Amino acid sequence: MLKVLVVDDDRGLRLSLRSILEQSEMYQVEEAENGQEAIAKVEQSKPNVVILDVDMPIMDGLTALKKIKQIDPSTVVIILTAHASIENAVQAVKEGAYDYLAKPLRADEVLQILQDALKAHQLISNLVLSAPTLMDGRQDFIGKTVEMQKVFHLIHRLSKVDTPVLIRGASGTGKELVARAIHMNSTRKKEKFVAINCSALAENLFESELFGHEKGAFTGADQRKIGKFQYAEGGTLFLDEAGDMPLAMQVKLLRVLQERKFTPVGSNREIGMNVRIVAATNRNLEEMIAKGEFREDLFYRLNVIPIYLPNLKDRINDIDHLVCHFISKFNKIHERKIQGLSPEAATLLKKYTWPGNIRELENVIEHAFVLETGDKISIASLPEKLLSKVGVTNHNLQMPVKNPLPYGNDLSNQNVSPQVGIIIADDKLDFSKHKEMFEREFITKALKTFNGRINQTALHANIPKKTLLRKIEKYGINPRNYMKK
Ligand SMILES: Nc1ncnc2c1ncn2[C@@H]1O[C@H](COP(=O)(O)OP(=O)(O)OP(=O)(O)O)[C@@H](O)[C@H]1O
Ligand SMILES: [Mg+2]
Repeated sequence: MLKVLVVDDDRGLRLSLRSILEQSEMYQVEEAENGQEAIAKVEQSKPNVVILDVDMPIMDGLTALKKIKQIDPSTVVIILTAHASIENAVQAVKEGAYDYLAKPLRADEVLQILQDALKAHQLISNLVLSAPTLMDGRQDFIGKTVEMQKVFHLIHRLSKVDTPVLIRGASGTGKELVARAIHMNSTRKKEKFVAINCSALAENLFESELFGHEKGAFTGADQRKIGKFQYAEGGTLFLDEAGDMPLAMQVKLLRVLQERKFTPVGSNREIGMNVRIVAATNRNLEEMIAKGEFREDLFYRLNVIPIYLPNLKDRINDIDHLVCHFISKFNKIHERKIQGLSPEAATLLKKYTWPGNIRELENVIEHAFVLETGDKISIASLPEKLLSKVGVTNHNLQMPVKNPLPYGNDLSNQNVSPQVGIIIADDKLDFSKHKEMFEREFITKALKTFNGRINQTALHANIPKKTLLRKIEKYGINPRNYMKK
């Protein structure tokens, strides 16, 4: 039996709906008199369908609709409206209601709309509410909030077509995960997913990296090389940090997207390509276009369908699920049996603003795993930076904060230098040399802490990414050596 909640301040109307629905013997009916009561019942008994009046005292239908969708986006809501408030009903449909019924009600109409709604609901919920499949089924894509459900919906739809996609969102919001999900849910899933990070490539290597080169095409090209386009043939090419692509390269990429063929460097042979382009950026491309740093024509090519990833602070209700997910991930990796968060720690995580988004949350949980000795993550195992941002200091904690790991700006803090361990001999006082030694040690240590991930290291160790990349090159450091196997 399907549960239907009828919400109307008019008792007579509730009763007549109840009798219509109960006659079909398919529905089990509950009632509520206003929006507020409706919310409580949705939380309690999780109805499949809510039939919701618009004009009600205490809490009106539109407000209740928003809250119901927040509690459970899969609930089907049908709006009840008098002819006079059709406008409201249209608004309600925009807010996520399935459809509306105009008063006075007719039994056959009510039953029909309910049946249609449930059919549509089944179709959509199989598609939308199911998180997109990821690479190997080992990783989950978490997102129960309305914001993420919209993203899932788009991923499913975009997987069925071959248009370019532009994924936009701040650092750590899951752009790469979305790109992989689009690939894994598309017909190209058996072919390769090839990622290229546009911000990590030197300008002169870009072209050969993307299109390949012939032997002898330029000094140092002693072998013929296959480019990423050819490598990804039949599959998906992910242009990460596309906003950092040099202008000259943007022109070349645009031409490839238009003509669907390219020429390797030093070759006079054009090669046809069948690759789906998914690009991502956390930069404000519109602003870059205005400044002449990003080509408008390429932008329109890539931006056919944009996906915007919300910041974690705008979907706080996903935090519990994400934390659960990361705890079980790290329990496996570190062979631990952490059960969850203490209630205080759970509250604090929701107060924090998460500038580094999900990646930062993942780091915070891993940081806590290292420090926590109990079976629940307590406040004392959370990073100091996070605690101070939400107004918790050593003084108002019963236990001292355990914080030996560098996190956030802590790394750039002077206290770190003794740990870094540079010994300064009195007879070799040379500032530049020591500065370089410090930089080198600092960067290797930071890379080690953040598993060789450039973005993460730049963000948390407070080094502009461009500077970090320059220093990595200068000191010949290989970030891959610090990646977790
Ligand atoms: N919805 C999610 N469910 C589970 N894990 C997630 C989710 N979103 C992101 N993550 C995890 O968070 C981390 C950061 O995600 P990702 O690398 O996709 O972010 P990004 O937006 O590409 O970041 P950046 O801009 O820094 O490159 C990854 O480890 C990823 O697996
Ligand atoms: Mg990324």
